[in-house]
Amino acid sequence: MQTYKVVVVGMGKRGMHHATAFHANSRFKVVGICDIDKARLEAAAPKLGNPQISTDALALAKSVQPDIFCFCTLPNLRADLVKIGIDSGAKLIAFEKPIALTSAEGMKIKQMLDAAKVKAVISHQHRYGEHYKKVHEIIASGALGRLNTVYGTATGWMMHMLSHLIDYTLWYNKGAKAEWVMAQAAGRGKLADLHPSPDYIAGFIHFSNGVRGIVDCGAGAPDVPEVPYWWRKCRIGAQGTDGFAEVMTGGGWRAVTKTGCLGGEGSMNYDLDMPPYIQDMAAWLDDDKNLHPCNFATAYEGFEIMMALCRSAIEGGQVALPLTAGMDEIAAFKEKMPNRKVLFSMPENAKEYPA
Ligand SMILES: NC(=O)c1ccc[n+]([C@@H]2O[C@H](COP(=O)([O-])OP(=O)(O)OC[C@H]3O[C@@H](n4cnc5c(N)ncnc54)[C@H](O)[C@@H]3O)[C@@H](O)[C@H]2O)c1
Repeated sequence: MQTYKVVVVGMGKRGMHHATAFHANSRFKVVGICDIDKARLEAAAPKLGNPQISTDALALAKSVQPDIFCFCTLPNLRADLVKIGIDSGAKLIAFEKPIALTSAEGMKIKQMLDAAKVKAVISHQHRYGEHYKKVHEIIASGALGRLNTVYGTATGWMMHMLSHLIDYTLWYNKGAKAEWVMAQAAGRGKLADLHPSPDYIAGFIHFSNGVRGIVDCGAGAPDVPEVPYWWRKCRIGAQGTDGFAEVMTGGGWRAVTKTGCLGGEGSMNYDLDMPPYIQDMAAWLDDDKNLHPCNFATAYEGFEIMMALCRSAIEGGQVALPLTAGMDEIAAFKEKMPNRKVLFSMPENAKEYPA
């Protein structure tokens, strides 16, 4: 079995999660790590088998020529690193959500990856949680009858949370294509964040199979009282003619079907989700048939939906998919969002959305 050479750029929280999981798996060898913060880099190296270290991603990638170029930087850095990955000759580029901060940059990334025919994987790794998988299993079994609605809510803001919500609703809706969206947004506070977002965005997605998607993300999204940890107050599920099934990121799963009320435990756990997420990259590189569940093409559909929701909130009305031209949605929000304080779904949100 081939061992795949890996470079990981960004030794922050998620970079360390990725690099640790690659290092622990015999199908991979971490041959290089990069961060502009030298102290971080030097602290990480001994934990990862002392790979080559560099503060320059381009120089490192050119020097070690990895099979996998992985980067886990904040979302302001995407297209430039994708280009470095492609130019290094990597067969697979693994990077973090969100795909980009604007539809213009997302489209550029898609064009670069398509032209280079390089595989890419986006880290929507919650899919690997047992509670997420259980809900998928119930939906896929047909136990909910004919699906009519899929939904996702999170109190965290858009660039952190919305692509997760959309990715899992697409999965629960059996990959049906979105045809149009319509949305509203409120609150300017997080437009200045490193994950720039309206404080609150909510909208509808119309899918080709007639199913309605409802997403509700940010300061106004409902509490999930069962979940104590604020960042995991997310509820994602589906309703059909015979019942519903839903996962709570930090609070297990539940379902009501014709056979009765069901439920179980589970909480998002990086230690459990990262190893199979990483393993599936080897499987995909081994054989094209083993499409990674978090493949770029699927994640890009979710990204387009997110940016179309933004455009609807900015311009009004319905927005058709797929998008045909790129724009800078965050700049447009900065220009057009009314200067009114966002209204909360619960007092606890004031801590994360200060006046
Ligand atoms: N999938 C998930 O569950 C999940 C969870 C948390 C965060 N994220 C995403 O992960 C990404 C990274 O978040 P994080 O919390 O790990 O951030 P972080 O700030 O902890 O780490 C980012 C690292 O990138 C480094 N960096 C910045 N510019 C660089 C450059 N030019 N070259 C090399 N290194 C550079 C920084 O010095 C820092 O160490 C974000 O996009 C975030 O949305 C995903």
